Amino acid sequence: MTRPMVLALAALKPADMAQKLHETYDVVTDIAAASQAQIVLTSGAMGLSAAQMDQLPALRLIAVSGVGVDAIDLPAAAARGIRVTTTPGVLSLAVAEMALGLALSAGRRIAEGDRFVRAGDWAGGSKLALGRSVLAGRAGILGYGRIGRQLADLLRSLGRPVAYTARSEKLGSPDTYHPDAVTLAQHSDVLFVTAAGGAETRGLVNADVLAALGRDGILVNVARGPVVDSAALAAALQNGTIAGAGLDVFDAEPNVPQALLDAPHCVLTPHVGSATDEARRAMSALVLDNIAAFVAGGPLPSPYGE
Ligand code: 8YV
Repeated sequence: MTRPMVLALAALKPADMAQKLHETYDVVTDIAAASQAQIVLTSGAMGLSAAQMDQLPALRLIAVSGVGVDAIDLPAAAARGIRVTTTPGVLSLAVAEMALGLALSAGRRIAEGDRFVRAGDWAGGSKLALGRSVLAGRAGILGYGRIGRQLADLLRSLGRPVAYTARSEKLGSPDTYHPDAVTLAQHSDVLFVTAAGGAETRGLVNADVLAALGRDGILVNVARGPVVDSAALAAALQNGTIAGAGLDVFDAEPNVPQALLDAPHCVLTPHVGSATDEARRAMSALVLDNIAAFVAGGPLPSPYGE
């Protein structure tokens, strides 16, 4: 019996999960060899463009290992009757802890301290400059979806009051709602960006928001690069408009703008919010479940937008 073809643009991880995909499906990685493929496996960051869909006339399912769909041309998929699945929930803790880690690293100069020790500056008699406490400050969360709420839970469990902004106030939330990003930033010492990417949130964190966050404030972005105006951020770091930043996501990954590489008090990581063994295993399991359900003609476990 011929096995269903899967065009894998992203790899399932860890390796044994990739193995499961290969055991069950005819996995191809070259789009030019995938005109028969009904299924594409992609990542949140990679998505799938309309031009790619044009090359895949048999495509019926886009299985995303991740939660972001901003890199998928959703109208093009809908017009072609292509369904989309994501992996919600199972990566929230990993991304939330990454956000907290970036805040701690920026505030407590952890990455900088590592460079300082290795460069021999400590041994040479220098002292690292003082940092600032993250957990003594007020936390603001911009984007109150699953990841934002998981981060709020984490911060509350550490005894921190949490404020947030979202499209609308969430009734029953234990956290304080602010109507917009500037107001949230005014009430935050650490501003965490967890909003979905896409046209609606592009440039949401602009020079005004950074000015409102202020000279003692730290910005953390684990969402999508374009949610933050990177030129405004680099300027705010250079001018001391804000104290520091921790960034896991960028406009044109894997390239990071020189202005951010040069900016002081800026901790950079290579889009690894969900990159733990535990999260990636759970994401891969959900991807495999979605593909299996699609092949079997059953209900999809985690369809997007249905
Ligand atoms: C993904 C992400 O894990 O979920 C998303 O949308 O950006 C990441 O956390 C990444 O795309 C790898 O699959």
